[in-house]
Formats: sequence, structure tokens, C-alpha cells
Amino acid sequence: MRNISYGMYIVCSNNDKLINGQISNTVFQIASEPPTIAVSINKQNFTHGFIQSSLRFTVSILAEDTPLAFIGQFGFKSGRTEDKFKNVKYQILYSGLPVVLDNTLGYLEAKVINQMDGGTHTVFLAQITAMEMLKAGKPMTYDYYHQVKRGSTPKTAPTFIKEEALAKSDTLIQKYRCSVCGYVYDPALGDPENKIPAGTPFEKLPENWVCPVCGATKDKFGKI
Ligand SMILES: Cc1cc2nc3c(=O)[nH]c(=O)nc-3n(C[C@H](O)[C@H](O)[C@H](O)COP(=O)(O)O)c2cc1C
Repeated sequence: MRNISYGMYIVCSNNDKLINGQISNTVFQIASEPPTIAVSINKQNFTHGFIQSSLRFTVSILAEDTPLAFIGQFGFKSGRTEDKFKNVKYQILYSGLPVVLDNTLGYLEAKVINQMDGGTHTVFLAQITAMEMLKAGKPMTYDYYHQVKRGSTPKTAPTFIKEEALAKSDTLIQKYRCSVCGYVYDPALGDPENKIPAGTPFEKLPENWVCPVCGATKDKFGKI
């Protein structure tokens, strides 16, 4: 399943009082005339209720150099308990929908025209109502997020794969997994986001080092 390609996006929506957004890799184009897209959203996510009530959402297309911590903020934290837009540049569109501008190459605004029950997830089919290019650059792919950024994916994502299944293949050096978000610290790779060079064992990481994805402290990590 990991060989299926995707991009990396922030899907935002609103209700009468609040705005919210979440990471999604499952945005894809369905038709060009009229331009139509689909997205798969977990029913447990705060964003799900917003889309079901407003029947509208936006999609921010993330750039390849988006920091892991930014993805962690929208992908591992819920708007139920956190203000995810704190310290984030965003815009409220004419429709009242929010759109994240930080680390964004461009955005789409869409109106839901149909939805399909996918068990844990709902697939929203939507027609594009507006779009804007913000800057030139390479969009981040889901593969880049995993292979280069070493990012992880929570259980709520449609493409979640149990880490046990992924970890079996490499037993060369002791790796540690974050119990909060599933990120794996691999000493062979270090943590380039935090300037930790390749070859640094987990035990040698500074005590104030935190998970580059979700910000969890070292004691939340366990041996794989
Ligand atoms: C790389 C990545 C991809 C994700 N893809 C999806 C997705 O396509 N659909 C989905 O419902 N959740 C996906 N998620 C999970 C949500 O972003 C996550 O559950 C988020 O905390 C929900 O926030 P909310 O409760 O504020 O809506 C993904 C998370 C990550 C890190």
C-alpha cells in the first residue's frame, strides 16, 4: 500500500463559530469539467463535522520543505483541544472558509456535491469554487514525507499502516519509536530537522530533544 502515491495537504473547514484544519494525504482530482476533487476524512476528526455541516472545505497544497513540526501540528493534534491556527498565517476567504497560507504553494476551495460512507471515513466529492497559486515550488509527496522527512502517520489517516509491519525489515541498529505519534528515530539517519547528524544513537540525543513530528519528550520513546 505504501507504493500508492499521494500529496500532502491541509484540509480546512468552518462552522458558525469556529474554523479548523487537518492534514490529509487523500486529496485527488476526479474530473476536470467541471473541476472536481475528492477527499477521505475520518469520522472521528473534528474537521469531519465541520465539512458535513458547512458542505465546504479548502485544500492547501503543502511545499516539499514544510517543517515536520508544522505537519505534526495539523496532523497529530485535534482542534477539539488545541488552537491549531495559533502562530500560523492563514486567510479567511469570502465564503468564511479558512485557508492555511504558511508552507502553501496554492489552495483550492470546494463545495461538497456528494458523500460516500467509507466505514471509518467519509469520502467527500466536491466541485472547485475558487483556486489560487501562491508561490512556485515543489509540492510535498506522501513518499517524500516518509522517506526523506521520516514523518509518521496516525491511526486516523486512511493510509495508516501498523509500525510493527514496517519495522520488521530493519534490525541493524537500535531504533526507537514515539508512543504518541509513531515517529521512528533511526540512528543511521539522525534527525536532520533538528541538526542531529546521522550515526547519533538515541541515548546520545540531548535530554531536551523532542520528537520532530509531535514534540513528545524523549521518555515517550521506546525501543522497537
Ligand atoms: C501524513 C498524514 C496524513 C493524514 N491523512 C489523513 C487523511 O487523508 N484523512 C484523515 O481523515 N486524516 C488524515 N490524517 C490524520 C489527521 O490529520 C489527524 O487525525 C488530525 O489530528 C485531525 O485533526 P482534527 O481532529 O482537528 O480534525 C493524516 C495525518 C498525517 C500526519
